[in-house]
Amino acid sequence: MKITVRIWRQKDADAKGSMVPYELDDVSEHMSFLEMLDVLNERLTLEGEEPVAFDSDCREGICGMCGVVINGIAHGPEVTTTCQLHMRTFSDGDTIDIEPWRAGAFPVVKDLVVDRGAFDRIIAAGGYITAPTGSAPEANNLPVPKVDADHAFESATCIGCGACVAACPNGSAMLFTAAKITHLGLLPQGQPERESRVLSMVEQMDAEGFGGCTNIGECTAACPKGIPLDVISQLNRDLMGALAKPGPA
Ligand code: SF4
Ligand code: FES
Repeated sequence: MKITVRIWRQKDADAKGSMVPYELDDVSEHMSFLEMLDVLNERLTLEGEEPVAFDSDCREGICGMCGVVINGIAHGPEVTTTCQLHMRTFSDGDTIDIEPWRAGAFPVVKDLVVDRGAFDRIIAAGGYITAPTGSAPEANNLPVPKVDADHAFESATCIGCGACVAACPNGSAMLFTAAKITHLGLLPQGQPERESRVLSMVEQMDAEGFGGCTNIGECTAACPKGIPLDVISQLNRDLMGALAKPGPA
């Protein structure tokens, strides 16, 4: 395939960026989207130009590093991670726009790379348990209702990619934060910090400058792991419960 990619190039966090077009003449439909960028970067390097900076690590949909906006859609036209998107999704002659996540709380570092450290700080604020876990317990020692186990597992599949934030018109991080709170809050090991967790993580989320949730649902539509909107209801229930508790005298 012959394609044109228009890529956001920005030298550093303070520089003014712009879309720069590149033509690629020999793109295989079997390439992943990131392999297409690798080919472009190889060419740019050989030509003595600065390669396009973009993030990736696992390239199998589990680390959450690779998010970019493709033709205006977080992770592109398929509901998957950018690394799991293949060039067969596009057609010969296409022009593809590639931009970094657009959210105030995810500042651009360079080209397509953004700083998602805000997510790390939300996790550090409460996304952990203090119950000693030891070695793997015998499965039936601590019964967990199947419905809770399934929902906790589903929430645990969040890979922290940030597509939910990039897709949300408010730049809200509610789906991400709620997935972490639901994951831990539904399991017995997560109970000791259940209230302090939701208070701290929501406080940190607000401090990072993410927008509020107005139930638009773009987050869940863009989420490559299918995290459902009802985790946000769980967060709100936990938050209301924690706020309703009288504080220390
Ligand atoms: S909720 Fe979905 S879109 Fe948001 S960070 Fe987690 S996996 Fe990515
Ligand atoms: S590179 Fe790990 S999810 Fe895409």
